[in-house]
Amino acid sequence: MCGIIGYCGPRQAAPILLDGLKRLEYRGYDSAGISVGINHELTVIKQTGKIHDLRVHVPAEIAGTYGIGHTRWATHGGVTNTNAHPHVDNSGKIAIVHNGIIENYTAIKKKLEEKGVEFFTETDSEVIAHLIAQNYTGDLEKAMKDTLPVLEGTYGIVCMHADEPHKLVGARNGSPLVIGVANDEMFLASDVTAILAHTKQVVYLEDGHVVTITDDEFTIVDMSDRVVNKKIDEITWDLQEIEKGDFKHFMHKEIYEQPESVVRAFRGRIDREAATARLGGLNLNSRELLDIERIKIIAAGTSFHAGLVASYMIEQTARVPCSAELASEVRYRNPIVERNTLYFAVSQSGETADTLYAMRELQRKGARVLGICNVVGSTIPRESDGGVYIHSGPEIAVASTKAFTSQITALYLFCLVMARMRHMSFESGEWYIRNLTDIPDKIAEIFNTADKMQVIAKKYCSFTDFLFLGRGINYPVALEGALKLKEISYIHAEGYSAAEIKHGPIALINEETPSVFLVPDDRLREKVVSNMKEVKARRGPLIAIATEGDMEILDIADDVFFVPKVPELFYPFIMVVPLQLLAYFCAVELKRDVDQPRNLAKSVTVE
Ligand code: AGP
Ligand code: GLU
Repeated sequence: MCGIIGYCGPRQAAPILLDGLKRLEYRGYDSAGISVGINHELTVIKQTGKIHDLRVHVPAEIAGTYGIGHTRWATHGGVTNTNAHPHVDNSGKIAIVHNGIIENYTAIKKKLEEKGVEFFTETDSEVIAHLIAQNYTGDLEKAMKDTLPVLEGTYGIVCMHADEPHKLVGARNGSPLVIGVANDEMFLASDVTAILAHTKQVVYLEDGHVVTITDDEFTIVDMSDRVVNKKIDEITWDLQEIEKGDFKHFMHKEIYEQPESVVRAFRGRIDREAATARLGGLNLNSRELLDIERIKIIAAGTSFHAGLVASYMIEQTARVPCSAELASEVRYRNPIVERNTLYFAVSQSGETADTLYAMRELQRKGARVLGICNVVGSTIPRESDGGVYIHSGPEIAVASTKAFTSQITALYLFCLVMARMRHMSFESGEWYIRNLTDIPDKIAEIFNTADKMQVIAKKYCSFTDFLFLGRGINYPVALEGALKLKEISYIHAEGYSAAEIKHGPIALINEETPSVFLVPDDRLREKVVSNMKEVKARRGPLIAIATEGDMEILDIADDVFFVPKVPELFYPFIMVVPLQLLAYFCAVELKRDVDQPRNLAKSVTVE
């Protein structure tokens, strides 16, 4: 959701800002803009639509060696050129970009208007430009610091002043900002992907910090004006990881990365000698791990589905009660935090507002919350009491795929630790490790028949309603399959427990409603087969994802996609991949914007 880039240095800023914004496209946005400064003047250009729409409005001769850029995901005010950022004050000397929401902007606006300030946009963000102008006495950093206490809500802000060239001032509260440090040039961005082409040296800003960058320096102070010394971190991934390579879409590339990304989630964390896992970041000693009596997982969207999968595995294997809950629901129901309950906040981006705020509320009540996150340095891992990075590498497509399988991997490792400390034998631990480490090859096998799924997608993509049905540990996978399909193909889809359809959804079944059944050769196979027959009897088209060699399914379903055999509790890894492919091929067939589906944002930083 929304993105920021700022540049100070010897080069022309506009191309750097536009390229940076292009890298931020994946986060989801509806308009964009830049402001560059030279000779005590600012040039501001903004436009609704995509970055290439903005690019055509930026004159080739535009000059300015410092500037700011923004991709907006509108929260307050329509998607119009005027409402796009940057916003300027009435003198036209100050420009700001803002990510987040200023909750008290109406009251601020009223006061400013009484003082004669003229407003041009419907946004909440514009008040920031005018407040900074009111507080400005020749020092932009001071004006920013005097402005922040007035603002309520969330923000990542970067501002510039025409009379203080080669200086940008940024601040954050709940919306990320990172400094990029290079030779003779500095960057400020909401996300490292915006600046990775220029530097791998970054400094993550904390809430309450104000940063000033010039061409060759950065300084960070807190709200009491104390200088904050922060270490420079090195980004471990390469530019090629945020490029599509030979793939047409990031989603396709990321689906295919899963054999490698699952390995990255368990690499270095398996202790074969002890037949267990080692997860250093948990910050829990053996005694504390043994004291855990209950596990609760909070998350949103796909991460919630990963949490649900893990809850089945943890309960059945570690025999510790475990449940997954939507973070957005946890926060507002005054959650009861019980002693000896361990919480996990699962989030690819580490910035999801629903998950972050639920985590904070739980922590306020004394809970220990660990993070399972992908984006290093993001807010959830920084505020959690420990946790595990899944190391998937950047996930650019809005539809989450590789993060899902890696989140499950990390939680399965945790499950192994818990199980081995309790009743699981050494031999069972070895068996578990063998099966987990076999998963990457099994996923790779699925790709050998991916074209079969393409044929299925072509056949069914013109249907407007789908059901996804699974049982046991594959029930959350059915939910995930439905979510993937609706997100990127805009086909209406519902996920249900296969057993549940007779309690209502079966009323939807007719020749026009295909059902995708997950029917592995597990304990529940016969039950699922019965559910399939119930649908068949009502002439519903049937697509089945079944285990290789299950010939009976060929007679029942209209189309079957076979997957390799794995033990029951490992099927989610294997079942989800065909569903990702189905959604992907349907979206391609329907000519959808696969990587940036309408209305969606990669990290949802508002509630
Ligand atoms: C997944 O395809 C979705 N785009 C979405 O449901 C996502 O999983 C959800 O917003 C949670 O994001 P997070 O993992 O970054 O917290
Ligand atoms: N609330 C601001 C707006 O609607 C910023 C939105 C964003 O974060 O992109 O303009």
